[in-house]
Amino acid sequence: MKIIETLVTTCNADDTAHVAPFGVKGLDESTARIGGTVTLAPFRPSRSLDNLLRANAQAVIHLSDNPLLFAGCLVGKRDFPLRKAEKVTGWVLPQAVRAFEIEVVDIQDDEQRPRVTCSIVWTQNLSDWQGFNRAGMAIIEGCILMSRLRLWDATIIAERMAMLEDIVGRTSGNNEEQAWQWLQDYYRDHKKKAGHGGGQ
Ligand SMILES: Cc1cc2nc3c(=O)[nH]c(=O)nc-3n(C[C@H](O)[C@H](O)[C@H](O)COP(=O)(O)O)c2cc1C
Repeated sequence: MKIIETLVTTCNADDTAHVAPFGVKGLDESTARIGGTVTLAPFRPSRSLDNLLRANAQAVIHLSDNPLLFAGCLVGKRDFPLRKAEKVTGWVLPQAVRAFEIEVVDIQDDEQRPRVTCSIVWTQNLSDWQGFNRAGMAIIEGCILMSRLRLWDATIIAERMAMLEDIVGRTSGNNEEQAWQWLQDYYRDHKKKAGHGGGQ
């Protein structure tokens, strides 16, 4: 089933928002409507998962073409504007393109990667989609690579980052440039800590 890369806001125990990118199944055209179901598959440990496992958990899934939202989550710059959701206890990112307000209806528990099934209770458009941009897509791939730094081979990550840099260099706008800079800084810090040398 098609996987759409999204931003998910969940509620912490004190009702503040936690934002994280997740791939979601069930958001294709035929099912992305009120009453449809979607599935998230968070690896443990995950704060989002903890929030979704709480009784009567609700959350908001967002479609977005803004690379700053994805890269910001990865590098810990998550102070995005937020407003309360319409129909669920949760938080909406007004900078996104579309929001799906959801409630958890089933949890298939697993030691490593539980499956969380949710029902869409409300959806609304927030802004216009700005069109495909290769640099934006490269930022999403870069975010994925940065989220796998401790899991994947360092040479493969370095090769893929170099390929993405070429695409970003040729097709980015201001947001993509800023997001790529955040990812580069994050990557450089990781390599320094891992002893692979700094500014390379
Ligand atoms: C585009 C994108 C998609 C992702 N999809 C998933 C996913 O489906 N499952 C997962 O466990 N992590 C996924 N990640 C990584 C999580 O966003 C990241 O590990 C995050 O910190 C989740 O942990 P948290 O809930 O504690 O914030 C994805 C990251 C990106 C950039």
